[in-house]
This record gives sequence, C-alpha cells and structure tokens, in this order.
Amino acid sequence: MAKEVTGEVTTGAGVYERILDHANRADPYPLYAELRKTPVARQADGSYVVSGYREIVALLHDPRVSSDVRNIPEIAAEQEAGTALPSSFIRLDPPDHDRIRSMMMRHFGPPHSPGRVDGLEPRMLRIVTDLIDAFAGKSRVDIVEDFAYPLPVTVICELLGVPRQDEPRFHRWSQAIIETIDPTTGTVAERERRNMEVRTELGTYMKELVDAHRRQPGDDLLSAIVTDPAIDLRLEELLSAAATLLVAGHETTVNLIANGMLTLLRNPRVLDRLRHEPDLVVGTVEELLRFEPPVQLLSLRRSALADIDLAGTTIPKGAIISLALAAGSRDPARFPDPDRFDPDRQDNQHLGFGSGIHYCFGAPLARLETQLALGELARRLVNPRLVADPPPYRPNPGLRGPRHLHVEFDGVLPA
Ligand code: HEM
Repeated sequence: MAKEVTGEVTTGAGVYERILDHANRADPYPLYAELRKTPVARQADGSYVVSGYREIVALLHDPRVSSDVRNIPEIAAEQEAGTALPSSFIRLDPPDHDRIRSMMMRHFGPPHSPGRVDGLEPRMLRIVTDLIDAFAGKSRVDIVEDFAYPLPVTVICELLGVPRQDEPRFHRWSQAIIETIDPTTGTVAERERRNMEVRTELGTYMKELVDAHRRQPGDDLLSAIVTDPAIDLRLEELLSAAATLLVAGHETTVNLIANGMLTLLRNPRVLDRLRHEPDLVVGTVEELLRFEPPVQLLSLRRSALADIDLAGTTIPKGAIISLALAAGSRDPARFPDPDRFDPDRQDNQHLGFGSGIHYCFGAPLARLETQLALGELARRLVNPRLVADPPPYRPNPGLRGPRHLHVEFDGVLPA
C-alpha cells in the first residue's frame, strides 16, 4: 500500500498528460523541458514521472526500484488469474533477471560469442543493398514500409532462426504486445490481460519453433541455445526471452531508422557530410539515440520497493515509476545545447538504450543495423526530400516513430 505523502509536487501532472496526447507526438520536446522543471513529479493517480537525467540514472541503478511487474498489484492479480508464459527478463529483478539474461547472452555476445553480431554485417549490408536497389525506377518511397521495417525484421528472423514466411503472424502479435505497453490504451489491468493473451499465442508459436530447432538445429541463435548443455533455463523462461527478442527486434530499430532519416533530411549539412565522411555515421547514430530516441518513456512498469528520496521528493514504497528517458537525454544540466542535433558531440552518454542492469540487450545489433542503413541511404539516394514534415506518427507515446515517412528523390546510385 502506498504511504500517504504530504507536500508532494504535482505540477508535472498536466504536462505528462499532454505528452501522452497524440496531438503532441510530432514534437514532445518543449513539453519534456516543462516536465523537467519538476524532475520527480507525482501524478494524480499516485504514480511518479521522472524526467531529469541525474534522477533517471540514479533510479535505473537503484536496487530499490523493481522491474518485476508482480510488485504492481493490478498486474500481479491478472498474472495469478492467467496461465500465460512467465514474464520475460525485462520484467524481472535479480537474481532471476541476471541468470536468464546471462544465459541468453551466452550465444549473442562477448565473452562466449563475440562474433555473433559482427558476423552478421555482410548479410545486413546485403539486405540494405537489396532494399535500396528496389527503389530504382521510383521517385518516391515510404522509408518506413519499404526499408526501416523490413530490414530489422529480416535480420532478427534470420538471427533467431524464425521462418520469414511466418512474419504476418508474429507481426500481429508483436504489434499487440507493443499496444499493451502504451499507457494511453486502457487500464493497467486491461493491458496486462491483453498482454497475457498475446503472450499465450506467442508462447505456443515459440514452443513449436524451439521443438523444430531441437530436431533440426541450424546456424542460428535459437539452435545454439537449445543445443548447448551449459544453458540452464526452464523451457518457459527460454520461450519468454526468445519472444521478447523477436518483439524488440521488430518494434524498436524501425523507429530509430525512420527517426534517423527524418532528422537527416531536416539537417541536410549532416546528410551531405555522411556522403563524404562515412565514419561520421557512428556519432550520428549515437546522437539520434539521444536526440530522437525510439524509447521515449519507460512507463508504468517499475515500482519502488522502499521510500526513495530524490530531488527533494519522497517516492513512497509501492509507487509506480515512469522514466522519461527522452527528457533525460535532452537535459541541459547534462548535455550542453541539448536541442541541437550534433553528430560530433563528445561525451554522449544518452539514455537511448536505458542504463543499469536492464541496459538494452540488442544495442550492438541495433547500432550496426542503423549505421549501415543510414550510411547507405545517405550515400545512394540522389537529392532526397521529405514529402511531409512532420510525418504522421504511430500512436504509442513511449515507443515513438513515424507511421510513414514518404521521401522523394531524383535517382539511386549504384551500390
Ligand atoms: C534502436 C533499437 C532499440 C532501442 C532504442 C532499444 C531500447 C531499449 C531500452 C531503453 C531498454 C531498457 C528497458 C528497461 O530498462 O526497462 C531495452 C532493453 C532491452 N532490449 Fe532493446 N532496444 C533496441 C533494440 C533491441 C533489439 C534489436 C533487441 C533484440 C535483439 C533488443 C532487446 C532488448 C532486451 C531483451 C531488453 C531487456 C534487457 C534486460 O532487461 O536485461 N533491443 N532496449
């Protein structure tokens, strides 16, 4: 039960509601600046929204902040009533989180599998090249539908060993999961109920897939995991974790690539520099993760395990905490001239991939994909121009990106 608190600051409340309002999706940044005036702001529903860089980082590294959704009574009640897969490690605390994460990491990155992501580079470049080759003869494309979506989906399917022809099925599931983390759709309990329904369907599918990989292992991540005797995971833990990778691989990088192309078209000098300075793409992608991050809000999933004093406010035990990562990454107390897009920025410790023990598992993959994607688009499209600015946005305020990004151009250079 949340402790009664007095003297709490609630001035951020109306601002946060406006951030969630779709009418402000194209440019939420002035609202984030307003929100940061109260870096730890109590909302009318008793939850807390945190928007200062220093405060967000403190909470992401604080063991008194839980990601285990069973600490949120409405979610716990739904989970007890249902039979879906257990929560993935993104919604668990240590020790289970650390155990499952390190098992999954064994075949994804260093020290055990240092080449897994880098080894995909030639294949990723091939996919990028083929997608841009298909623009030839056209004068206008939708960067979202024709490029930013198919690229990461193809990569995550090949990486995991998921048949590409099943894509329409899990596209639907993955969108449904994402809708359940959208704080503007229904109550916490309704969202969890829907999340569990989808997780059940996704779990059945993942189980068939794992069985198939056991019978006939291939050269993919799932096969490596299911045939490794050193992996000590319960089947449900593996199914949940694999489902999370599939969903994360579907719904995040698409927005970074689309936000990236939009930002480059708004900053033609940077776009032009990329054509002559290919190495600039590394700093460009880091700056995009700060300036236009796909994950804007980590909302309504974390909770306080004890009273936490922060920025002159006490977040009481039991309170739900939302972290406005995108506001933190534009905090002038941390980043000089934060509203300027500057790919040469040094010391760019943005919050685009989070921080602490839940730091994005797929960051090396997402970085490489986006670097290749934007580098090749910049190099090959002749005189690209935005058709609409701002473009139409997807509804989700937490996972933000354009629904479509129509771009016109005068030709496509050879690969
Ligand atoms: C541009 C693309 C991406 C962005 C912006 C992004 C962002 C994030 C953020 C902010 C978190 C922290 C969540 C939290 O603290 O609650 C996170 C966690 C995570 N991400 Fe990503 N992500 C991206 C791509 C990917 C990809 C491609 C994968 C899968 C291969 C992935 C898998 C995960 C997983 C499994 C976690 C949970 C890690 C944990 O709880 O230990 N992400 N991501």
